[in-house]
Amino acid sequence: MDSVEPAGLEPGARAPSCPQKGILQPSDSSELECLQQFKVTKIQLQQIQASLLGSMEQALMREASLAPGVRMLPTYVGSTPHGNEQGNFVVLELGASGASLRILWVTLTGIKGQRVEPKSQEFVIPQEVVQGTGQQLFDFAARCLVEFLDAHSVGNQGLQLGFSFSFPCHQTGLDRSTLISWTKGFRCSGVEGQDVVQLLRDAIQRQGAYSIDVVAVVNDTVGTMMDCEPGVGPCEIGLVVDTGTNACYMEEARHVAVLDEDRGRTCVSIEWGSFSDDKALGPVLTAFDHALDQASLNPGAQRFEKMIGGLYLGELVRLVLVHLAQNRVLFGGYTSPALLSQGSILLEHVTEMEDPSTGVVCVHTVLQDLGLNPEASDAELVQRVCVAVCSRAAQLCAAALAAVLSHLQRSREQQTLQVAVATGGRVLERHPRFHSILQETVKLLASECDVSFIPSVDGGGRGVAMVTAVAARLAKHRRLLEETLAPFRLSREQLEAVQTQMREAMAKGLQREPSSLRMLPTYVRATPDGSERGDFLALDLGGTNFRVLLVRVAEGGVQIINQVYSIPECVAQGSGQQLFDHIVDCIVDFQQKQGLRGQSLPLGFTFSFPCKQLGLDQGILLNWTKGFNASGCEGQDVVHLLREAIRRRQAVELNVVAIVNDTVGTMMSCGYEDPRCEMGLIVGTGTNACYMEELRNVAGVAGDSGHMCINMEWGAFGDDGSLGMLSTCFDVRVDQASINPGKQRFEKMISGMYLGEIVRHILLHLTSLGVLFRGQQTQRLQTRDIFKTKFLSEIESDSLALRQVRAILEDLGLPLTSDDALIVLEVCQAVSRRAAQLCGAGVAAVVEKIRENRGLEELTVSVGVDGTLYKVHPHFASLVAATVRELAPRCVVTFLQSEDGSGKGAALVTAVACRLAQMARV
Ligand code: G6P
Ligand code: BGC
Ligand code: BGC
Repeated sequence: MDSVEPAGLEPGARAPSCPQKGILQPSDSSELECLQQFKVTKIQLQQIQASLLGSMEQALMREASLAPGVRMLPTYVGSTPHGNEQGNFVVLELGASGASLRILWVTLTGIKGQRVEPKSQEFVIPQEVVQGTGQQLFDFAARCLVEFLDAHSVGNQGLQLGFSFSFPCHQTGLDRSTLISWTKGFRCSGVEGQDVVQLLRDAIQRQGAYSIDVVAVVNDTVGTMMDCEPGVGPCEIGLVVDTGTNACYMEEARHVAVLDEDRGRTCVSIEWGSFSDDKALGPVLTAFDHALDQASLNPGAQRFEKMIGGLYLGELVRLVLVHLAQNRVLFGGYTSPALLSQGSILLEHVTEMEDPSTGVVCVHTVLQDLGLNPEASDAELVQRVCVAVCSRAAQLCAAALAAVLSHLQRSREQQTLQVAVATGGRVLERHPRFHSILQETVKLLASECDVSFIPSVDGGGRGVAMVTAVAARLAKHRRLLEETLAPFRLSREQLEAVQTQMREAMAKGLQREPSSLRMLPTYVRATPDGSERGDFLALDLGGTNFRVLLVRVAEGGVQIINQVYSIPECVAQGSGQQLFDHIVDCIVDFQQKQGLRGQSLPLGFTFSFPCKQLGLDQGILLNWTKGFNASGCEGQDVVHLLREAIRRRQAVELNVVAIVNDTVGTMMSCGYEDPRCEMGLIVGTGTNACYMEELRNVAGVAGDSGHMCINMEWGAFGDDGSLGMLSTCFDVRVDQASINPGKQRFEKMISGMYLGEIVRHILLHLTSLGVLFRGQQTQRLQTRDIFKTKFLSEIESDSLALRQVRAILEDLGLPLTSDDALIVLEVCQAVSRRAAQLCGAGVAAVVEKIRENRGLEELTVSVGVDGTLYKVHPHFASLVAATVRELAPRCVVTFLQSEDGSGKGAALVTAVACRLAQMARV
């Protein structure tokens, strides 16, 4: 019988079944008809390839797939092995090869090409367990683990386990995986919809013999793909044909809709066993397939798998033999009870019966074991049935693989794709012809692809250990990250403690007792009442920008013209004279531009630094903050310094009426719109707050009735060490590197000048732990102030996908992986969240003070807020409000974002002062 080369098939022609030397062709019609059904044409294979491809792409986009299709499940394996994974790992394989589980002890040397043979042991799972309860199954697995570990005395310290679980699962992490549905004869109750890692952890716990950390759950196709020897591969497809069948491959992360990822690749488990597009599969499904499906544990499910998987091939052969026997084509029409019983022909039987050399002998043995007494012709026909069933299985498997290849070609825009496929599973390993038919048919259906098939060495055990090594590394990183960020996660108790301490410090400060809160009287006794009128000049110094403003307060409201000027660092840290001369230069420039030369308008000076005010127009600078350090100013009356500078600049007339803190200016500015506004809050470069206190509570200021606005200077809260319990090593580093170490401790945990630096120090620390940037410290990250606080606002913005986070970090020249961006995002969130909560605790302390001052059950109050961080950060404001609601439930607090800055407030304070002075003169 001359062999026929499987040349290209004419349309409609059946695909090659590679007739084997010594295997006779079919003789009569029914026999022919019966086997004919298993012949699949090239067109049909191409239709299956195309339909499966369509189903893959729909499932990737999470679009409802037209045909019940493949699942395309992310596996959270983000890269093929680097080869430097190392360590000892326990691997538990469940479900890859039927009712058995295998346990391995795998040692990864981390040295390319250096392999240590894994120790392994197989355990048969009793049928009543395979179809019992989930607890029974996982307890059985845990008992086998104990038996294995006892037998292999690997000690009981830090055992890390990789769980190869070969069933369709929704994974939400490397160690979190929910079973979608059982396949392959498994049907344990109470497992579908459950996290199988937790079920295993609970079972191991119940054994109580070993403390084993289950760090990763992996589909067997992934283990097979990862087991591919670097140097040969990397294999980017993992193909398993054992009792079941499936494949995984490395997909562009951006194509996987459920993953908010756009860079790099991620491994996707296709779960092609559930492919069942009637249009494509209908024509090749035979009556035997339907009969098998109806009799299976999961009728209607895994239709594609039931035509390929080793659990079903023997059964298909049996059903055909029964059919041919009942049609008197075989065994003289005799059927034995064994032949009639489901599952009596196994995969091993089929592979043996097809063995080219011993096949015919094996056929006799198998049939006699089934209580049959075959003729030679029976044996030949039985072999032909095996060939027909398995050839079709291999061809269908090839069509599916060809679909994956076409998809990779398309998604990588490669004309010719070169790829290595790791293969595993007993059908591929043991069946005499399955592999070759698969290869040939793939060549036929995906001729532009250069595919190499790499059999996995030990069924993927090492691959699972590789993933476990990666998972263990990520888990360790996660732990180190949690440990690093834990001090930033403030509990309600800690926030209440801050609130209480702030209240105590406020009380002491108001009584002029030693306190880190200076509680400075501002001589602003009232918020505007709307009757203010006139044109005013205002200066706004101390924030991000220095502004000169012309403020017109009229019937119809307030108009503002302002100009932003910069304060160069050399001026901010130069001499006081230089600074104030620079300020006057800006004023003169502004007057010129606004045509105000020669006009002496009342001027309000927002000076955002701690000043001991002796009057509305007298403020002694106590100390610089926020990077300012001009000499000869601290302890001086800054209004005097300004007036001196004006005097030095002859021909300039300015009437400095009031000096206000930016918190006061902000409160006044918002109070102009909302009379309930009795607190001012700044969260910008620096942070601070003021509020209207009962005059009777303010020591050192005459009068017992009425109110006075108090500038708390809360930036200095904790400078007495009272915040020590919250201060982290990163806060200490930022403080020590600042120009005012030991000062403004509360500010240095909250405000814009410092948050970026805190993040940078945490990133340096995590890099030194190897958690970030693969442990590579970069010059850039060592550079002070390189990580701007505005990056936090950008990185944490919800609308920013991870890719933009990466873009920001790459601009900083940081060599980051996909996980790095996520970690940086988490660090930013932890730092800004703590800042907002501390700020909220401060506001809660103040509004509660006001409520108690007035003996009110409930207080309704508004807070005027300004500052870049508060305004720009996507979550800061809402976190502050949430913290206030939690800590001051009896206060209804409205936060009013000041639109015109505190310059307007300074002008209003000036306007009030002028009005009062006017009234005093009349
Ligand atoms: C506004 C106010 C300034 C204040 C600043 C604080 O601009 O007008 O008086 O100092 O906010 O925020 P910043 O982010 O600029 O430091
Ligand atoms: C499962 C897959 C598995 C395949 C091969 C199928 O039944 O659904 O998860 O990869 O069998 O074991
Ligand atoms: C200053 C305050 C100012 C705050 C906000 C702090 O550094 O000490 O006076 O209100 O920054 O700008």
